[in-house]
Amino acid sequence: MNEGFRAACVIGWPAGHSRSPLIHNYWIKQHGLTAEYRREAVPPDEFAAFIRSFGERGYVGANVTLPHKEAALNLSQPDDRASGVGAANTLWFEGGTLRSTNTDVEGFQENLDAMTPGWDSGLSSAIVLGAGGAAHAVVFALLQRGAERVYVANRTFEKAEELQTRFGARVKPVRWGEVNGLLAGAHLLVNTTSLGMAGKPELSVKVQDLPPSAVVADIVYVPLETRLLAEARKCGLRTADGLGMLLHQAVRGFELWFGVRPEVTPDLRALVEADLRKEQAETVSQKGPRRE
Ligand code: ATR
Repeated sequence: MNEGFRAACVIGWPAGHSRSPLIHNYWIKQHGLTAEYRREAVPPDEFAAFIRSFGERGYVGANVTLPHKEAALNLSQPDDRASGVGAANTLWFEGGTLRSTNTDVEGFQENLDAMTPGWDSGLSSAIVLGAGGAAHAVVFALLQRGAERVYVANRTFEKAEELQTRFGARVKPVRWGEVNGLLAGAHLLVNTTSLGMAGKPELSVKVQDLPPSAVVADIVYVPLETRLLAEARKCGLRTADGLGMLLHQAVRGFELWFGVRPEVTPDLRALVEADLRKEQAETVSQKGPRRE
């Protein structure tokens, strides 16, 4: 093996849909590193053994995607973000210790910082749609940025209640049907459900009822502009899209593994957009997972 060569990977089951290799190999080339970022398809029953032999396989770190994010947390020493969210999406070695973090938190925050500056000033009321893994990272991110009240609306109400149990009284679980009544007082609306994703039902929210200064964010990135975001833009609201979050969440992993902080640039965004468009054209009917 070459002197100084470093390898990282994305571990998932399946792993084929992940855009992480495209993003990280772009940065590796841009920075002239002797490194490679690979895909590792690892079934759930082999994940623990894979992680135990991770360093021996020559890896300096990894992204972890579905369905391994909780297992990754349990098999590593998590930082405050990973343990707060209850899931890890990034692994790295610190000395001989395998550490983990959750970069969806800063991916969400930094995407909004870039696309909708000032979004977190005076953030008294936010609405989060959905209560799955992505919602956990988004709620953590909002509380960290000082949100006073975060309404969590979910089809399955009990899962919204679990977020209050985890994060405390600033989180207010509400029923799905209550969302439209909360819009007039909300500063931020975030979709973390799979609604609006290609092949899934549309999300129906009366975005016109949000105040004119409100920000609307969607973590869905296929299609690039969801109906929610298109409608919000038509109403003159500021928006932040899911692709931006995907790109921003990749930054810290790269920095941890390779020691260089990469940038989310228009060129990188265009590269990933082109890849997503190609896939959408090729597999219109395929409904595989589309989140990192
Ligand atoms: P992720 O980890 O990416 O957040 P997930 O854990 O599967 O994915 O969560 C998907 C979210 O989309 C959940 O909040 C889910 O609601 P339930 O908890 O009730 O399942 C939401 N979701 C999926 N399909 C939905 C639908 N048809 N209507 C409303 N919510 C839906």
